[in-house]
Amino acid sequence: MKILLINPPNSGRSIPEERYGITSVKQIFRGEPLALEVLAGNLDDHELRILDLKVNPDGLEAELSGFTPDIVALTAMTCEAQTVLRLATQIKQKRQTTVVVGGIHASADPDFFNCEQIDWIVVGLGKQSFSELVQALETKVDQRIPGVARTAPGTPLSFQPRKFSRNDLAEQHPPRYDLVEPYRPQYVLQTLGLQLGFVASAAGCPYDCSFCCISALTDGRYLTATIATVIRDIQQLQTPVIRLVDANTFGNPQHALQLADAIESAGIKKQFLADVRSDTVVRHPELLKRWQEIGLRAVVIGFEEIDDTALGAMNKKSSAAINLQAIEILHRIGLTIVGDFIISPDYTEQQFDKLGDFVKQQQINLPMHTILTPLPGTDLYRQLREKIIIHDLDYYTLTNAVLATRLDEELFYQRYAALLAEGHQSAKV
Ligand SMILES: C[S@@+](CC[C@H](N)C(=O)[O-])C[C@H]1O[C@@H](n2cnc3c(N)ncnc32)[C@H](O)[C@@H]1O
Ligand code: SF4
Repeated sequence: MKILLINPPNSGRSIPEERYGITSVKQIFRGEPLALEVLAGNLDDHELRILDLKVNPDGLEAELSGFTPDIVALTAMTCEAQTVLRLATQIKQKRQTTVVVGGIHASADPDFFNCEQIDWIVVGLGKQSFSELVQALETKVDQRIPGVARTAPGTPLSFQPRKFSRNDLAEQHPPRYDLVEPYRPQYVLQTLGLQLGFVASAAGCPYDCSFCCISALTDGRYLTATIATVIRDIQQLQTPVIRLVDANTFGNPQHALQLADAIESAGIKKQFLADVRSDTVVRHPELLKRWQEIGLRAVVIGFEEIDDTALGAMNKKSSAAINLQAIEILHRIGLTIVGDFIISPDYTEQQFDKLGDFVKQQQINLPMHTILTPLPGTDLYRQLREKIIIHDLDYYTLTNAVLATRLDEELFYQRYAALLAEGHQSAKV
């Protein structure tokens, strides 16, 4: 079959820009669509293309009429969900084709896509289940595939949940990095001007922070990839920098240590960026040191908040003291700290001041500040549903307040923009 996999264009709207002319807050994402390359890897017997609308925003018409796909599959984060619905409508108007949607929003809130322009929804990791769906569509055998829902607009979505396991990683089939080769020069880490390649070494996360949608991908399971397949994937890429895209690369310290040893033994000389929790750094400083020796350059670490009450409310299962210890260890080892902090819409001016001071004092190399957003499907959403004032998902970019701000709204965004600017002045990765 002919299958077109689509990465949606940069989507999302900005309240600070639209209401107050603050243009510095809007975020642009551009990295390779690894999730689609991974899906493609498990579709050996089919004709495949990836269309990256983030790089080629006007490419849809040409691809639909030139390639004439039998199946079009789209992925979407929450802020892209409405864009993907609009694209699906366009696709259906142009061509009689099966439209499938997957990715993080489909996994966290599958009902959102229960509409007439979508035929199937893939819930959670899709490498294996999407391949099973394609086979069922090709052979026209009507089978119920766990983790795949047939849309039925107007009636509740009904499907069998999938019990995710290593089988869903379908590791024998590497990602089809070749399908995005024409786009690759555009996948650049802007702060360094370096080309970046993406590799996955684990899926899901064993933690359950209330704001986070990662657990929806594996129904709370944490799955590590076999060391040999991670090495294989790293070696496929020519790029000097590898971003390990796992939400939690060091979730199984023993596995992470084996991976570091294997990278060294394979003679791989690359730089790595990876996500780590602060409590992992504190419990396993020698692991981070080992990774620094084999090329880890920077870690992305979710500090989130600087006091224990706020961390507790998020179910972060960490503390302000652990965050401080982790910062000290990472500076000592010489790893660049990309620190994630979450600004509550409830913030006062004093809290903005305190956070700004903390980032400076602790010398966080690249602070990343998001605004607390109750993403559909998360515990936070269930807790705050009644208080949400903006329901339009185009604003769920993590840089808009979809809950009422305690400060006057314009002042809130001025303080937010100032915090971002301050952090980026001395940023290094
Ligand atoms: C994958 S995690 C970071 C690294 C690591 N997993 C950790 O917990 O330390 C991505 C980061 O995005 C931010 N984030 C995720 N969901 C968010 C939400 N709903 N609202 C605001 N920020 C969010 C948080 O700062 C979070 O730490
Ligand atoms: S924020 Fe990090 S630790 Fe928490 S659930 Fe998400 S990925 Fe896991």
